[in-house]
Amino acid sequence: MKITNDIIYVGVNDRQSDLFEGQYEIPNGISYNSYLILDESVALMDTVDKSFGEEWLSNVRRALGDRSVDYLVVHHMEPDHSANIKRFHEEYPEAKIVATAKAFSMMRAFFGIDFSDCAVVVKDGDKLSLGKHTLTFIGAPMVHWPEVAVSYDECDKVLFSADAFGKFGALDTDEEWACEARRYYIGIVGKYGAQVQQLLKKAAALDIKIICPLHGPVISENIAYYVGLYDTWSSYKPEERGVAIAYTSVYGNTKAAVEMLSEKLTSAGVKVALSDLARCDMAEAVEDAFRYDRLVFATTTYNGDIFPFMREFISHLTERNYQNRTVAFIENGSWAPMAKKVMLSMLKDSKNLTFAENNVTINSALNEESMAQISSLADELCK
Ligand code: FEO
Repeated sequence: MKITNDIIYVGVNDRQSDLFEGQYEIPNGISYNSYLILDESVALMDTVDKSFGEEWLSNVRRALGDRSVDYLVVHHMEPDHSANIKRFHEEYPEAKIVATAKAFSMMRAFFGIDFSDCAVVVKDGDKLSLGKHTLTFIGAPMVHWPEVAVSYDECDKVLFSADAFGKFGALDTDEEWACEARRYYIGIVGKYGAQVQQLLKKAAALDIKIICPLHGPVISENIAYYVGLYDTWSSYKPEERGVAIAYTSVYGNTKAAVEMLSEKLTSAGVKVALSDLARCDMAEAVEDAFRYDRLVFATTTYNGDIFPFMREFISHLTERNYQNRTVAFIENGSWAPMAKKVMLSMLKDSKNLTFAENNVTINSALNEESMAQISSLADELCK
């Protein structure tokens, strides 16, 4: 697959892994992208996951024809991209390996090999000339590992963006970009909004026509749309108006409460995303919490604490700097309801949250009083 006259896609699709990074469901697989720049010198951009080494090398050989590789550029050392560096080095021992100093430390840790005989260490602002194409390296520390760099090809105006602008889904999947890119971003990169903002500022100085990420499709049109979404996500602004409702329910009483709230909101024209945390994909629920401007937490008091799935959900939010939204609570308890107090304490360090005035306390099952509280909460959330 040609990206430009000189840049060829040599990555692979993974449709066999059940989980990505050991936790994210990937029903439509994922791609590990790799690119070849064929110029006076030949540069290969990143490797792929260990299960796909042979397929990737065969793609590389086919694209190379009778040429060889002069440089392997390593933008990121997470094993989904770096696992085949040693294998590459065995097949192309003459090729230089280009990466940041931190990436070389990680290579030593992962492979027990010092690549010092072929290492080209780069830092922010360094350039690598291939002939017509010159790559400029831009440090992107903590997007989302410390060694990450992206690179920009001035000739074809291509940004090789590492994990940034990546998405779940193999390349032969026909699906909207934003949904699975958002779940990927919030889950994997979401903690590092400040670092993504720094990278976006550096990228704003470049004339970018094409983005080549390490996962998902190459982006070659409407770049402003994708950069705009990354700006929204990394600045922790809500993307859309709507109410996410995340709940757990043991015997169906808390579920009855959130369904009543959901119906009232929906009939008032408010967009609602309802997640049963014990059954849904947790990463989808976390994604919805960040997507919308309002969030209702609904859970039971459990062993003097809250139901475990809700505890996990709130930990995912706080770990990713959840902020800038309106939140409300529905708690249930059969003898001493204290779920709201526990949830509030878990959110105590979250910045710029507006707490709803109306919350709901259920004593075991809905009654007139708790149903009236739900009506009041719905009215407040509709304003
Ligand atoms: Fe796609 Fe952070 O590895």
